[in-house]
Amino acid sequence: MIKKIIYDQTKYNFKNVFEKYFEESLEKLHKKFVFERRFSNMAGGTEEFSLVAETYAKVIQTNVFNKLWISFIHDVIKPYFDDKPIYVQKLPSFRLFPSYHSIQYVKKITDGYNKHLDSEPPYYHPNFETGFWLPLIECDHNNDFYYEDDDWYRRADIRENEILAFSSDVVHGNRVHNESPNTRCSLDFKALALDDYDENILTDRIILKRGQKFKQNDWYSTKHYYMEM
Ligand SMILES: [Fe+2]
Repeated sequence: MIKKIIYDQTKYNFKNVFEKYFEESLEKLHKKFVFERRFSNMAGGTEEFSLVAETYAKVIQTNVFNKLWISFIHDVIKPYFDDKPIYVQKLPSFRLFPSYHSIQYVKKITDGYNKHLDSEPPYYHPNFETGFWLPLIECDHNNDFYYEDDDWYRRADIRENEILAFSSDVVHGNRVHNESPNTRCSLDFKALALDDYDENILTDRIILKRGQKFKQNDWYSTKHYYMEM
């Protein structure tokens, strides 16, 4: 299941928050900052760019951002779950896909794309989660989010005031090579109805997060990964 959610971008202007911090338009971050490499793989993904680590520390993990995040979840994401109690990722993940950078985060590339399910290794996301993807720029066909829908592999092609919600059975993944002149920045996070949480499907198999190993049932516990709202 794939769905688009429209939200008030003037009220929840994440793009502006990050552009103020970088003092650069997000599309052109590669002109201002030097990325450590031109190719990222699963072990040393784009999550490990020092710029990304700094962005978590200086922007996302601040009280100001946290406040914005909580009201955004309340106003935009909870209604998606009919305002029932939910578990939601405490803070969003921030992703960078630099212009002319290549990423391979699946074992086997399909037709030039990182086609995958989030329940696959190394992340082993539980399938009771719904994924949310929020672009911070206008994507083009080279740097967009792609997903499988009725045997078509199609672009998300959504605007900056839209969010894509996708269930855990949706195959998705961007191109391996970003041949766009623009860097893609996006936020993504997971959420679920409280009633759908099922600790019985979690095991102690090892997952990889930012290059570090954790047990699946420790990582996706209600205390560690999610907050209740
Ligand atoms: Fe994914």
